[in-house]
Amino acid sequence: MNINSKLPEIPTSIFAIMSGLATKENALNLSQGFPDFKSDAKLIELVNKAMINGYNQYAPMPGVFSLREAIAEKFDKLYQTTYNPDTEITITAGGTQAIFTAITATVKKDDEVIIFKPAYDCYEPTVELVGGKPISVQLNPENFKINWEEVKSLITSKTRMVIINSPHNPSGKVLSKEDMQQLENLLKNTNILLISDEVYEHIIFDHLIHESACLYPNLKERTFIIASFGKTFHNTGWKMGYCAAPAYLTAEFRKVHQFNVFCVNHPIQIALATYLKNEQHYLNLGTFYQQKRDFFLNLMKESRFEFTPSSGTYFQLLNYKNITDENDFKFAKRLTIENKIATIPISVFNEQNLDTKVLRVCFAKSEETLQKAAEILCKI
Ligand SMILES: Cc1ncc(COP(=O)(O)O)c(C=O)c1O
Repeated sequence: MNINSKLPEIPTSIFAIMSGLATKENALNLSQGFPDFKSDAKLIELVNKAMINGYNQYAPMPGVFSLREAIAEKFDKLYQTTYNPDTEITITAGGTQAIFTAITATVKKDDEVIIFKPAYDCYEPTVELVGGKPISVQLNPENFKINWEEVKSLITSKTRMVIINSPHNPSGKVLSKEDMQQLENLLKNTNILLISDEVYEHIIFDHLIHESACLYPNLKERTFIIASFGKTFHNTGWKMGYCAAPAYLTAEFRKVHQFNVFCVNHPIQIALATYLKNEQHYLNLGTFYQQKRDFFLNLMKESRFEFTPSSGTYFQLLNYKNITDENDFKFAKRLTIENKIATIPISVFNEQNLDTKVLRVCFAKSEETLQKAAEILCKI
């Protein structure tokens, strides 16, 4: 039989390729974005307790209410804004499911969705899957700034949605207040929706402030805010997150959510409801990861790679133009096989696979791992 693929152009995710190669080659894996240290024992104990206490059947469809309440309190405390836990917050199986659901619920055939490249890899295929048309805007490869005039010129009567991501994977760039105001001006008085992928909300450095879309009234009213507990609490394998959006958008979101997953992991939601109440569990994250970034970059000063310190996320870009003119995919593969270190070539996230001789490394690793990685990279 012949399958007429719905996504004929989509290859296997680069994360699966590089992590698979890292395992095969027994290489140090700085490719995929996950910590190599443990999640807080207190949180694990809370999950165990929830299981022992019998929270092992389906959770309520939109999520455990006490967790939604704790999230609403966090919005209030951090951004002085209100989300109704009953009608405006939904617990999801990670950021990815929240993004998939938000797009599926609102983008129709031939709708255009503006995506900034390099982009996290799930946005575009999801838009294509629902018959929408991704409209790419390549960020400036030097500084990853958005050219708002270019964005303005791409807005048409078919534009249904814009997707932003700050702090940004893979560049570590953080959107400024001016960026958010430009976006607000562009979208006000339109029917264009926004996905604001804020999964690295708490991983932000050098006293920068996270400009959540919820701080801007003309954005908040049209935005699905996407968050990931996996990124925040060092347990990406649990796949837990949430979506906050005005009631009229949440109603559409839940229409898809209920037939996609119906609900997500119950005992973990119970545990997170308690754990999230202590703000020290997330407010120290920036300092924690900034120390790792600085530890790694200090060692990397001896290398031939060029870099600008990441402003957020746990990713650092490394430019290798002083080392070779090989394309980034080939170079990343060769590093994995010959030097036993796996990275991500960022051309895979760029418009038309633009090769800027840049690799992405993940520094959510123990100092020991980072030291080993720097030793290898400094010899190249
Ligand atoms: C920008 C961005 N958005 C969303 C996600 C997905 O988050 P989750 O693992 O919670 O699905 C990731 C994961 O790497 C990411 O980097």
